[in-house]
Amino acid sequence: MNIVDYKEYISAETMMGPNSVRILAELFDKYPLELVPNDMVLDLGCGTGLTSLIIAKETGARVFANDLWVSAEENRKRFAAWGVGNQITPICEDANNLHFEKKQFRVLISIDSYHYFAGSKGFFQEKILPFMQDEGVILIGIPGLKEEFTGRAEELLSDWLGDDAYMFKSPKLWKELIGENDRIASVKTWEMDCFSEAWDDWFATNKKFALDDRQHFDKIIKPYTCFVGIYIKLKREII
Ligand SMILES: C[S@@+](CC[C@H](N)C(=O)[O-])C[C@H]1O[C@@H](n2cnc3c(N)ncnc32)[C@H](O)[C@@H]1O
Repeated sequence: MNIVDYKEYISAETMMGPNSVRILAELFDKYPLELVPNDMVLDLGCGTGLTSLIIAKETGARVFANDLWVSAEENRKRFAAWGVGNQITPICEDANNLHFEKKQFRVLISIDSYHYFAGSKGFFQEKILPFMQDEGVILIGIPGLKEEFTGRAEELLSDWLGDDAYMFKSPKLWKELIGENDRIASVKTWEMDCFSEAWDDWFATNKKFALDDRQHFDKIIKPYTCFVGIYIKLKREII
């Protein structure tokens, strides 16, 4: 996908951190999706719904945009203004307690949010997997710790993140946390490429949180952290 196509939507109003559109674009380029309009995609932790808009436009599928901090009403208004109100359903639920149909989704996408709620062993298998169709795909892009600093998040990141430092985990650790299951065909985790551009776009918003992050970029964020990509492919139905 070409992120320039979405330039008008990427703004200080819609951004909540490093440019989620760049992270999504990198995931789509690496693992292209071929969906039909009846397919359902869950955008988990969608924030202001910027990624939900792009998923809808790029795939043509029906999108469920779930977030905790941004209300469904606020996102509903934005989707209507963007002309995608019929294709995207906004929802406000905690990812720990979702209320979808079993095997509802062909694809789950989660950008810059999965680390807030999914960092315990068993979370994926208990809270996410039941909602995913056989042969489904999960694409996740989140900030994390570079591989070589595995296990040192609190020591290295606390001056920036305080008590939230534990959320940052390395690609290898995320693979272990997702674990193995009869329904999982493969799990791949890696350090993503879009790090500098995504952070630069965030700093350019001049929002208060962006200016705070900028203060820590050279000493903490750049040397120790990365964006972790996670791709999970599910097996065909087991008979
Ligand atoms: C940094 S924002 C990123 C939002 C958006 N994905 C983006 O990249 O712009 C993190 C998002 O995670 C969501 N989040 C945090 N904890 C959550 C939970 N337990 N259930 C659902 N969403 C959650 C928040 O509501 C918030 O919008």
